[in-house]
Amino acid sequence: MRLLICGGAGFIGSNFARQRVNDHGDEVVVLDKLTYAGRPENLADLGAAATLVHGAIEDPAKVAEAIGEGVDAIVNFAAETHVDRSISGPDAFVETNVRGSLVLLEAARTSGVARYVQISTDEVYGSIAEGSFTEESPIVPSSPYSASKAGGDLLVQSYFHTYRLETVICRGSNNYGPYQYPEKLIPLMVLNALHGDKLPVYGDGLNVRNWLFVEDFGRGISHVLAHGAPGEVYNVGGPSESTNIEVVREILAQTGNGESLIDYITDRPGHDRRYSLGSEKVRALGWEAQVGFEDGLKRTIDWYRDNAAWWEPIRSGEFREYYEKHYGRALG
Ligand code: NAD
Ligand code: DAU
Repeated sequence: MRLLICGGAGFIGSNFARQRVNDHGDEVVVLDKLTYAGRPENLADLGAAATLVHGAIEDPAKVAEAIGEGVDAIVNFAAETHVDRSISGPDAFVETNVRGSLVLLEAARTSGVARYVQISTDEVYGSIAEGSFTEESPIVPSSPYSASKAGGDLLVQSYFHTYRLETVICRGSNNYGPYQYPEKLIPLMVLNALHGDKLPVYGDGLNVRNWLFVEDFGRGISHVLAHGAPGEVYNVGGPSESTNIEVVREILAQTGNGESLIDYITDRPGHDRRYSLGSEKVRALGWEAQVGFEDGLKRTIDWYRDNAAWWEPIRSGEFREYYEKHYGRALG
């Protein structure tokens, strides 16, 4: 296939591009704005199989350039993705996650792209005290991030119903693995633990997340791309649920650190208590998570240990400024 992967220079998109090139022999075009989270070096090992177009999904001319003579499908990962940043500055979230999705859908429709896959999130369902979300669960987002993702999803559904564009939506649970920007829980805690820095846990640390190794998410997306029914939503959830404090303790154990590094800090406003994503529908397409949490976490920690050249420039650049502003006072 010739695939247009929007946001393919970020964490999940670059892992997906790697899988498509190495496991499926695809040719991929990546359209990416290269925000703080997008890095061309995430695609460096793919050589000529990946072409990077630097541009925003909300820019119709750049989208047309990326589609070029035509692509078999568009897979849209491009988004502002960090909940904490959406609380301090929501504008960019609406611009990319809502308006950007609309521009892409319109380009797919007018240029006759056969298939459009929107990468979405379990956060659109809000928080659940017991049981698990299904694809029929109501959309009740809590943060500006999840509200903007829900807005994108609703536009996707509207393009299926109104124009019969062949869309599918893939909603993933919390991903972790190589190439994840260290603002997110697992890489943040891993790098802090490797440096002997404090590990900032929000609130009581008992919020529950459903962890999914990034390669398993990629395989789930490929199943949906190949076999998903037009107009449908597919949840792709991780094999295990853990409280944040359990994750942090496991990272401390695997990096040989003690619990004195844990620092409980002020909770995130509107913090969703628990996510749990039922994945029966994508299982019926033949997908199953292959990587258990302990194993995936070990692979992730090993990757960060072995790839200091990847994270060193991040930790000394934009991220340092963000970190000091966001955590500075809390961590003294
Ligand atoms: P990320 O922040 O690592 O990467 C996002 C990428 O999108 C970056 O390369 C960035 O440069 C690019 N981008 C941002 N705005 C853009 C724009 N206007 N035009 C073009 N490119 C733009 O994010 P991620 O964690 O890889 O998430 C990818 C997708 O998966 C997102 O849609 C996110 O909502 C969804 N998702 C993430 C998770 C998770 O746990 N990380 C779970 C479920 C779903
Ligand atoms: O569920 C899927 C979502 O997972 C994706 O849609 C988002 O793009 C992605 O960012 C992620 O959102 P979360 O808010 O769940 O992930 P984050 O890594 O920011 O936080 C995970 C949990 O850890 C959450 O309960 C907040 C907590 N946390 C996070 C950070 C950054 C802390 O306790 N301390 C921290 O410093």
